[in-house]
Amino acid sequence: MCGIVGYIGTKQASRVLVDGLQKLEYRGYDSAGIAVMEDHKINVVKAKGRLKNLEQKMEHNGVPAGTIGIGHTRWATHGEPSDINSHPHGNERVTIVHNGIIENYVQLKEKMIAKGYTFLSETDTEVIAVLLDYYYTGNPVETITRVLDTLKGSYALGILFVDFPETLYAVRKDSPLIVGVGDGENFIASDIPAILKYTRNYYLLEENEIAVLERTGVSIVDRENEPISKELFTATWDIEAAEKGGYPHFMLKEIHEQPKALLSTLSPRIVDGMPDFGIKVLSDDILKSFQRIYIVACGTAMHAGMVGKAAIEQLVRVPVEVDVASEFRYRNPILSKENDLVIIISQSGETADTLAALRLAKDKGVHTLAIVNVVGSSIAREANSVLYTWAGPEIAVASTKAYSVQVAMMYLFAIKLAYVKETISAEQTRALCAELMEIPQLVERTLETADNCQFFASKFQNAHDIFFIGRGLDYALSLEGSLKLKEISYIHSDAHAAGELKHGTISLITEDMPVIAVATQTALLEKMVSNIKEVITRGAKVLLVCKAEKEKICDLTDFVIEIPACNDFFTPLLAVVPLQLFAYYTAVLRGCDVDKPRNLAKSVTVE
Ligand code: AGP
Repeated sequence: MCGIVGYIGTKQASRVLVDGLQKLEYRGYDSAGIAVMEDHKINVVKAKGRLKNLEQKMEHNGVPAGTIGIGHTRWATHGEPSDINSHPHGNERVTIVHNGIIENYVQLKEKMIAKGYTFLSETDTEVIAVLLDYYYTGNPVETITRVLDTLKGSYALGILFVDFPETLYAVRKDSPLIVGVGDGENFIASDIPAILKYTRNYYLLEENEIAVLERTGVSIVDRENEPISKELFTATWDIEAAEKGGYPHFMLKEIHEQPKALLSTLSPRIVDGMPDFGIKVLSDDILKSFQRIYIVACGTAMHAGMVGKAAIEQLVRVPVEVDVASEFRYRNPILSKENDLVIIISQSGETADTLAALRLAKDKGVHTLAIVNVVGSSIAREANSVLYTWAGPEIAVASTKAYSVQVAMMYLFAIKLAYVKETISAEQTRALCAELMEIPQLVERTLETADNCQFFASKFQNAHDIFFIGRGLDYALSLEGSLKLKEISYIHSDAHAAGELKHGTISLITEDMPVIAVATQTALLEKMVSNIKEVITRGAKVLLVCKAEKEKICDLTDFVIEIPACNDFFTPLLAVVPLQLFAYYTAVLRGCDVDKPRNLAKSVTVE
């Protein structure tokens, strides 16, 4: 996600825009830019890197003068971070800033090239600017409406037309945008923090409503240019709280962003109901050639790989080995360049051990596929193929939404590979894709367990040690639940394959050792019931995460978190939510620094 701001008033726009962008850097920070209009001329300044690079550029080259402008801080999705890919984008007639993903930008770009247009950047955004030029009728609202009819995907747009130097336009679909109302000045912004310094009054722009901002006031119109009456809201948050969207911590905000992150990551890659990565490098022929797969990552990303292993082996029936990067890189792995694939998973794309593992695999001539959340990161640049996750910036050190989109990408990859290798039929492929696309709203429903998770956290918060147990996919998920708890609450925790308890670790079970049991796999439920009974008879307090309809298992303990029913294959995407929430609320109750846990960093760029 990116941050956009816009201003029209009596102040110099550049200062207001930079102030606003500073408050939106949490939404994306790989490049920034502003466009300011004066006397029918739009001056654009943009720079790769943090906002301070833009400010330094303006100090060096001069600050664009004018009292109307738009600004943008970028989280790259299409086109690596660079000056030319930075926003704003425009041409002689129109300049825009955009937050969102245009899913059909390739087709639209090809159409515009065929009509004689040339493009400077790799972005999807530039296509919108070209379309606004192409469809320009002399009436901005009419022009905007015509262009919106051609777009698929999400957008929040700030738009300047050279022919209308006293007016700022804005429109949104799926991406957030507010319209700030001041005294003789008006604003647009992706989020409230950007305008709080100037006004607390704002309109919430709804889907496909067009905002027309002048110094004297704001009008909101529909696509037929008919005025819409809107409720004016007043922000009560302070600036710091507003950057977290009103949540007390970035981690909780990011847990709740998971439905949108999943939708942003999945929907562009399921076309007409079938998996479509749209990348040439991983052709079907290359995919068919893989007979063995390694998944290499660290921490939470490795746990996503564990789910990926189960998914790929179940659907594709090729062996998958998961390894932590710090081990993989030093154990001289047995790799075959003929038919091995190494999948590298990393949120930051900069983890030193993971990058080293990627380079090792490439040195051995093995095809590498990176699943990364940061566009243009080292791992993304060096891998043979990249599948970006589009979770937006993850600020909290403890990874939540990035894990979920990594797991979702693993599922989609498994489905795609199985279809290409014909281990599942087209009908099965379509059915699995349909079920996967239902997951975001099931995650939304699972978030409703938050109050229960908070209550149960209060019952477990004083534990010194906690076991997580599960079988199959639930064991893979338990690893992640355990890491979340220990890294932010500082409670020692371990995850165990439930069937392994009797081989030693059950000796640790007493009434002082609570157990969190994840039991969502129908085929393994009876075994899990036995394992849960084993620990209960030895005094353990058990918190159970299961599917709502599994009532017989729910009678085993008083602490039950139920997730919505879904295909067992996909339950990790739902069951992880209560584990994240449980860890979060436990850490809050213990007074820990949830977003910045001791000793940790968001990206471990050293060995
Ligand atoms: C996640 O909660 C941890 N902070 C950590 O394990 C993280 O997943 C690991 O360092 C890998 O980071 P990456 O995904 O950016 O490579």
